[in-house]
Amino acid sequence: MRFPSLFVTRSCEAVHRLRQSSFLSPGSALSRHQRVSVSSLLCTEERSYYITTPIFYVNASPHLGHLYSAVIADCLHRYKLLQGFNSKFATGTDEHGLKIQQAAEAAGKDPLAFCTDVSERFKHLFSSCDISHTDYIRTTEPRHRRAVEHFWSVLWDKGLIYKGHYEGWYSTQDESFLTPSQVGDAVDSSGKEIKVSLESGHKVEWMTEENYMFRLSAFQSQLLDWLRGNPRAVQPECFHQFVLQWLQHDLPDLSVSRQRSRLQWGIPVPGDPEQTIYVWLDALVNYLTVAGYPEKHNQWWNVVHHVVGKDILRFHAIYWPAFLLGAGLPLPQTIYVHSHWTAEGKKMSKSLGNVVDPLQRSQMFTTDGIRYFLLRQGVPDSDCDYTDRKVVKVLNAELVDSLGGLLNRCTAPGLNPAQVYPSFCPQSFPREQGGRAVVEDYCMLAAVKDLPAVVEQHYESLHVYKALEAIATCVRQTNRFVQRHAPWKLDKRDIKDQRWLDTIIHVSFECLRIYGTLLQPIVPELSNKLLSRLGVQPGERSWAALNFLPSYRGMECPFEGRALGPDSGVLFSRLGSQNVDQQKPKKAKKAAKKK
Ligand code: MSP
Repeated sequence: MRFPSLFVTRSCEAVHRLRQSSFLSPGSALSRHQRVSVSSLLCTEERSYYITTPIFYVNASPHLGHLYSAVIADCLHRYKLLQGFNSKFATGTDEHGLKIQQAAEAAGKDPLAFCTDVSERFKHLFSSCDISHTDYIRTTEPRHRRAVEHFWSVLWDKGLIYKGHYEGWYSTQDESFLTPSQVGDAVDSSGKEIKVSLESGHKVEWMTEENYMFRLSAFQSQLLDWLRGNPRAVQPECFHQFVLQWLQHDLPDLSVSRQRSRLQWGIPVPGDPEQTIYVWLDALVNYLTVAGYPEKHNQWWNVVHHVVGKDILRFHAIYWPAFLLGAGLPLPQTIYVHSHWTAEGKKMSKSLGNVVDPLQRSQMFTTDGIRYFLLRQGVPDSDCDYTDRKVVKVLNAELVDSLGGLLNRCTAPGLNPAQVYPSFCPQSFPREQGGRAVVEDYCMLAAVKDLPAVVEQHYESLHVYKALEAIATCVRQTNRFVQRHAPWKLDKRDIKDQRWLDTIIHVSFECLRIYGTLLQPIVPELSNKLLSRLGVQPGERSWAALNFLPSYRGMECPFEGRALGPDSGVLFSRLGSQNVDQQKPKKAKKAAKKK
């Protein structure tokens, strides 16, 4: 079996690595030959990238976990744009299925009007949180219906779908069919014994229906080959192992339709209006719809990457690749998996009243604040706990004190009365030790020089928190550098002192420029503020412009002598105790009122 898409990315990566090496090893500039080969490769090969979020169910309002999926994908999209990729970023809403049908009924609304209403709420949340998607898909759109019908027909024509009889467990909440081994016993809130999904804890019901089945069992060995041959297909590694384990067990054929009498809110099976297409098959095809399927999806389909939560890994790493193999389409490049957020140590749920409202938190902590927190504290491999107190602590320490403090110090009129990007003096900070710089200063330069490669590696493997940890460590080092040399104590009338002062500020600005550039995918507004204050123009903020401290290497620095941008206030405003009293479960609040 061939997976042509893999080859495209490898060569793109090769180009990228070559390009990176030009600033990673300052001493070894690219040879003319290398430069020519890089640019010719860049010209002949389009560097495309396509990232998706799961599409969100519209049965309830958005919560923090949804925003988290979207922020991760947004970060990867922005990062790829900075690297010069032509990047497509899709998100949207999953609007069909029994769950939505029932939610609309319960709300006494027409299903489409109900979906539109909630879908708009997601859209609003995303625009408020700087989610820069290039497409927003709703599964109720005609373009999607066309894609699903076509996809179904391809599978049908290949004999991969057959009419059968399904008898087994179904969870409406998860819209998922389960085998007996995936089901356990539980007791509901009224004390009644019920059956639940062992994975999600949601109630399951026995169903027996005539419907269409997909020959999933035929793909077991191909799926194993794919995963074994592509150890980075599912990231982080622990999730790759889960999927491999699942595939050690039997893989029964999958029911891919429901009787129309039970499920009306969905796309009818082509040629059989008595059946409705299973909502997961319908939903997964959204990724193809956005790519332009069935006519013009090739450019994007070869470079698709999915961000998904751990609860929907099986659908993305088993069902979806099997459907794609069946349809003769390339498999996703990467399935990035993240874990879940709990609130004050508990699973977020409507009944507990502890669902964290992402829009409200973005207003409370700012868009950049909530984005930074989610990506700084979110560890994809394990669940993370959300508390308002933690947000305040992290943001005050890292954005206010550390990064904001550094910018504030170095741009203060006392130290920098001319408000310029001052000159670097090689005699004060020579390449070989001998000027005024000390060993720790050289260590800092080495760390900041290596930082883009470190950050890149972590962004690529979805360990964004590690990238942010690396940046935060460097920011602290730069603060210590300034503190160590106390430029405010230098005598500005002494030419040597003045040159050293300028050098300290120049080095600090260069560090800040690197931090601001690398942070753009995480905190776009804050980075813009930081880079604008340094006088770095929009065209100078790409990954290729990350040429740290060229003056130190005897190269021209375009910023030297340039006027700083206007002072538009503190980088990030300090958060206070007023921000931490919000997170009381609703029930507790009511109880408190009664008293
Ligand atoms: N509609 C399906 C996805 C179809 S994709 C073809 C779905 N929707 S969802 O609204 O339930 O979930 C969307 C995303 O939100 C999933 O990635 C899910 O993991 C994520 N989250 C839901 N709750 C979460 C947390 N508590 N924490 C983090 N993310 C979680 O599944």
